[in-house]
Amino acid sequence: MEKIANAVARTTEKAVQQCVNHACGASYALRERLYVCAKCGETLEIECRLTPPGDPSEIRARWAAARANPKSPRDASGVWRFLELLPFDEDAPFVTLFEGNTPLFRAPRSANYCGLADLRLKHQGYNPTGSFKDTGMASAITQAVISGARTAVCASTGNTAASLAAYAARANFLAAILLPRGQVSAAKLAQSLDYGALVLEIDGNFDDCMRLIQELGDDPAIYVANSINPFRIEGQKTVAFELMEQCSWQVPDHVVVPGGNMGNSTALGKGFQELLALGLIRRLPRLSVIQAEGAAPVARLFATLTAAQRAGDEELPEKLQAVENPKTLATAIKIGAPVSWKKALRAVVRSRGQVIAVTEQEIADAKAIIGRDSIGCEPASATTVAGIKRLVAAGHIQPGEDVVAVLTGHMLKDPDYISNYHRGTLVPDSASKEAGAQAAPIRGAFQNSPARVAATKSAILAALKQRQ
Ligand code: F0G
Repeated sequence: MEKIANAVARTTEKAVQQCVNHACGASYALRERLYVCAKCGETLEIECRLTPPGDPSEIRARWAAARANPKSPRDASGVWRFLELLPFDEDAPFVTLFEGNTPLFRAPRSANYCGLADLRLKHQGYNPTGSFKDTGMASAITQAVISGARTAVCASTGNTAASLAAYAARANFLAAILLPRGQVSAAKLAQSLDYGALVLEIDGNFDDCMRLIQELGDDPAIYVANSINPFRIEGQKTVAFELMEQCSWQVPDHVVVPGGNMGNSTALGKGFQELLALGLIRRLPRLSVIQAEGAAPVARLFATLTAAQRAGDEELPEKLQAVENPKTLATAIKIGAPVSWKKALRAVVRSRGQVIAVTEQEIADAKAIIGRDSIGCEPASATTVAGIKRLVAAGHIQPGEDVVAVLTGHMLKDPDYISNYHRGTLVPDSASKEAGAQAAPIRGAFQNSPARVAATKSAILAALKQRQ
């Protein structure tokens, strides 16, 4: 295998797993398999002690060449071509399905909808299993192989499961996935079945599944592949590197992502922070996270922060009030007790971003306008465009600023939602529904229901005329 240019000095000995609780400060070797700090129970973060490259253009050129002209499967992966910034050795048993290398689209209709001159959408739904989870799964399953595990588990709202199922199959692992029964889109569930995972449908919600995972993680034979595992974050942070390449290293003013378990926002924040520390970028983009109103514990907490806390001048809260019974039709982010909230909130505050919530109506209409841009995405991803519209209206984002939203999942991940929206049968996941009352369906601003026509040329021409 081609030797990597020594543009950034890195050895695995220089990377440790660090407790994020400053007061604790415990650190662990990379080979130690643990997901939370053994001393205080707080989450862990991998600290890569990287040495800044003498000449940033050299390393940028190497990454670009690997993408343009890959000489190995590792080069062809949008994760592994950034090996210099990852806590793995050159001879690691890289697991890859050629993840990453996803497109950055211009979205003029969505921009106009948000009140922006321009908007770009980084579409992580173009990954091998159709969601952003694949970049982190490549690194997590590679680490699982290194650690000698044979079984990997995760709790999931559907996408992590599909991704784990695929990567585990590739690495000859057994994947066991815990899903909240009846709350996962059929398309995502079908993926996990086809990739051969053991699918366990739990009577409970995602947070119940996550609690079980944390208990299972104590078993040395079981490898936890949720984003509480810091090796997941390492693969996912490469999105920041790839995005900067696509922006010709011109830092956008704002990067906006959906928020569920908060692994994605943690990863992006870490990626940008490392680029800054290495001198590969000169400032951080403002990172904002958007949650669905019925599953928005971090947005609620953010709304209570003082100006000094938002500015990073005062300590952030230690506790998050979980949402007991989260509700949203964006099932991917139907999460009331996100495990990575602390790391994500730090990243948001450090970059002077915001965490806000949007309504079901706003998500549904934003999703449809992204569709009109010929891009499409799953509902959770559309929180970004809905959130940007709000942030522009509130003056946090200026109309002429450079904004990138990260779309996290492919349009075909949840076709029932789309069909219901356009047919006028999309009923909110509300408490009243549970109580037996019929909630009113969402009236989509961009509804486009199919028309039933007679099998005649004239009927078709008449239908066309109505549209023109
Ligand atoms: N968008 C999509 C499509 C997702 O599947 C998820 C999370 C998120 C956004 C939120 O990302 O959790 O890192 O803040 N899906 C997880 C899963 C929970 O199990 O597939 P996050």
